Parts: sequence; C-alpha cells; structure tokens
Amino acid sequence: MFRSRLLGLTKTFARSMATETKAPNLKTFKIYRWSPDTPDEQPKMVEYKVDLDNCGPMVLDAILKIKNEQDSSLTFRRSCREGICGSCAMNIGGKNTLACLCKIDKDTSSETKIYPLPHMYVVRDLVPDLTHFYKQYKSIQPYLQRDTVPEDGKENLQSIEDRKKLDGLYECILCACCSTSCPSYWWNQQEYLGPAVLMQAYRWLIDSRDQASSTRKEMLENSMSLYRCHTIMNCSNTCPKGLNPGRAIAEIKKSMSFA
Ligand code: SF4
Ligand code: SF4
Ligand code: FES
Repeated sequence: MFRSRLLGLTKTFARSMATETKAPNLKTFKIYRWSPDTPDEQPKMVEYKVDLDNCGPMVLDAILKIKNEQDSSLTFRRSCREGICGSCAMNIGGKNTLACLCKIDKDTSSETKIYPLPHMYVVRDLVPDLTHFYKQYKSIQPYLQRDTVPEDGKENLQSIEDRKKLDGLYECILCACCSTSCPSYWWNQQEYLGPAVLMQAYRWLIDSRDQASSTRKEMLENSMSLYRCHTIMNCSNTCPKGLNPGRAIAEIKKSMSFA
C-alpha cells in the first residue's frame, strides 16, 4: 500500500518535472505598429514570441496574450471573440480576416505577419479608420422604407420564399474585410461604395417589404458608386463569414440593366 502510493507520487513528480523542463513552443508574430503620438516616426513591424502551448488556438488569443503579458500598448479592436461583432478584422498572413476566427499557423519555423486592413487610414497600430466606410453604409439608407402601412396596421409580412432571398445577405457583420481587399475600392474609395455596402444595398433592393427600390437604383445609377466593380472577386474570396458580395453586385448590375 505504502509502496504503491510512493510509486504514484514519484510518477507525478517525474511528470511535473518533464512539464517544467519542456522547451517553450515559440511562434513569432510580426505586428504593424504606428502611433499618432509620435507622428514623425515611420510605421514599423515589431516582433513578439508566444508560447503556443500556453495560448488559445486563435490569432486573437495570441495578440491578447501579447498585450496582457508583453506590451500593453499594442492596440486593436475586439469584442465578441466569436465572429459576430466584426471589430477584430485585420490582415493576417496576407489575408483580410477576423482574428478571432483565424487559427494560429502552428508551424513555428515560419512567422505570422499582422497588419491593419489595407488601404485605410490607420488610427493606431491595427485599428483602421472606418469613418468613411460607415458613412457609405449610411448613404444607402439601410432600413425598411414604405409609403403604405401594413393591412393589419402592425406588421409588414413576408412569404417564406421572399424571406429566403435575404439569406446570405443579412448575415454580413460589416467587418470591411471584403471592401478593403477590393482593388477598385483601394483606388476609388471616395466614390465607389465597395462590396460590403453594395451587398447591403442589394439586401434592401430585394426585400419584398421595401417600396423604395426605384430610388435605391437611382442612387446607384452613375459611373462610380456601383460600376467600379470589375468582378475581380477578391471580396468573395476573403469574406470570413463565407458570404458572396461579388455575386450580390452582379445581381444589382443585372437588375439595373433590365430595369
Ligand atoms: S468583385 Fe467587385 S467588389 Fe469584389 S473585389 Fe472585385 S471589383 Fe471589388
Ligand atoms: S460581406 Fe463578409 S467580408 Fe464583407 S463586410 Fe460582410 S461579413 Fe465582412
Ligand atoms: S472579436 Fe468580434 S468578430 Fe472578432
């Protein structure tokens, strides 16, 4: 009895010693840094090492760990940590995505580079300025517009088939990954609405309850707002929610040409 307990204790001790002596499984992250407090300093990439055996699986886990344990000045947006709020959008390993949905590349022989969303003004570090993006979203009037009240005076009803047409559109979380991956948006951002906003324009255009479709189409009937899309499809390839803004834009163009 005494002997087997001693044996058990010895095994536990040996296991804990093995854990203590195990070399850390270090992964290198190179992260874009820039601060408005030192505007004369050029942006730079700063290297951080994170022990993957002591970190959650997602890139957001790693950057939170860096902020908590190594450099509290590292700045980024995040909130829900489950792909719902859209605030942790950034460019990771060359792709626009959500840090909370992006698994860490476990290959410790290669580094992971993290930048803010491309071709946007930077507020600080990984935080892009989305003011213009939100203004563009507001400009498409993303809400139900009707001239008549519903028959029962309460609800604007919709058939199951018409409701289904909104699937793949309403799920957009406005993270801006698609718009900031679009070359047309990079070069014409002041006037071209970009894939995220255009997909929401389409979402309201095809809503059977909405009665403002002709005004909505008129707003897009110019050479810049819609027609700067050249169907390059970067937008649909990068969407972390698996949506297809490129197709939505093509549908708007189709409906405009047959209007
Ligand atoms: S399909 Fe249109 S919106 Fe999407 S990336 Fe290409 S040009 Fe941009
Ligand atoms: S379509 Fe996708 S990538 Fe674009 S804003 Fe919506 S969720 Fe983000
Ligand atoms: S933290 Fe909300 S989408 Fe990533």
